[in-house]
Amino acid sequence: MQKDPGATQGKPSLWSAITLVTDYFAWPLRTSHYVELVNPLWASHSLQARVEKVWDETKDARTLTLRPGVNWRGHRAGQHARLGLPIAGMHYTRTYTISSAPERDDRCITITVKAVAGGRMSHHLVRNVKPGDYLPLGLPQGEFYLPDAQPVKPLFITAGSGITPAMSMLRGLIAQQRLPDTAHIHYAPHEFDVIFGVELRAMAAAHPRYQLRLQLTRELGAAHAAARHFSPAQLEVLCPDWREREVYACGPQSLLEAVELHWQQAGLSRRLHVERFRAAYAEAPADAVGGMVRFGKSKVEALADHRTPLLRVAEDAGMNPPHGCRMGICHTCNTRLLGGCVRDLRSGKLLNEVGAIVQTCVCAAAGDCELDL
Ligand code: FES
Repeated sequence: MQKDPGATQGKPSLWSAITLVTDYFAWPLRTSHYVELVNPLWASHSLQARVEKVWDETKDARTLTLRPGVNWRGHRAGQHARLGLPIAGMHYTRTYTISSAPERDDRCITITVKAVAGGRMSHHLVRNVKPGDYLPLGLPQGEFYLPDAQPVKPLFITAGSGITPAMSMLRGLIAQQRLPDTAHIHYAPHEFDVIFGVELRAMAAAHPRYQLRLQLTRELGAAHAAARHFSPAQLEVLCPDWREREVYACGPQSLLEAVELHWQQAGLSRRLHVERFRAAYAEAPADAVGGMVRFGKSKVEALADHRTPLLRVAEDAGMNPPHGCRMGICHTCNTRLLGGCVRDLRSGKLLNEVGAIVQTCVCAAAGDCELDL
């Protein structure tokens, strides 16, 4: 059901009353489809955002300031939203954390994207998107946010672009003037790789309650990198009162696994909140093999290894399969298995029953297989 952007307290707005009449003449389309031609942000049947500004945070990370259309509803600090992007005739969707605070008063949001190796969309967003472009946008989602009640002494543990949800939360707490005693351990390879580096240091200087512990893992060369990564001993030094804190962690899989294990062994898992950028994968068996993947409806075949998600295999073969989160949450990518065998990369479980639902973003070939795509 479409939201009425102008509605207040359950009463339809003047605009919705007008469109009730004009929709009759616009049939089989709706008034919103014509309004969209004038300004895509005014459309009520879809949600788009206009790129207002681009800002390079580091050599491979860029912040985009987006002005969402009338259907946007505010986010909570730490939430993410889906962003669409047409590239070379294909439509891609990815999920990005909103890095701005909900308290921004210009109705804009920011996302901060790091170009990742082999990441089509991240490279496009970092290198090619420019002010004035319009991008399809989803509504804010996710449960990685601070509680309404004041969090007791939060500890943020972040690495790389995993800083984005923490940044939204920190900016929000500062804007609300209720920043509690906050510790923040952030990992980046070098000083020049620290996303929001200048702002983080300024926050630390301006707010004595915010303790920033920057760990530059490669500053002393690759040989010393391991000593700078997360470890229980390092945590004791950087944040001795970690047991008393509510922890919000976001970063690469290796960091999150180490953090989860440590809090679990300490019996404090309930205090740990984790945000992942991709699903956690199980270890693949040593004898795992890929195979020939046949996409039945499209009559496309592609050779795949045992680790590459079938969604990516389809896209690399020139297809444009439906997808959303790409991490096994939204089920937009679901299809049916028509034959053969696939492996769920999260659990390692094999699926070989004809008709079984396959989430292509988190399943890979386990031998030859055929999908209803
Ligand atoms: S794209 Fe969301 S579950 Fe696969």
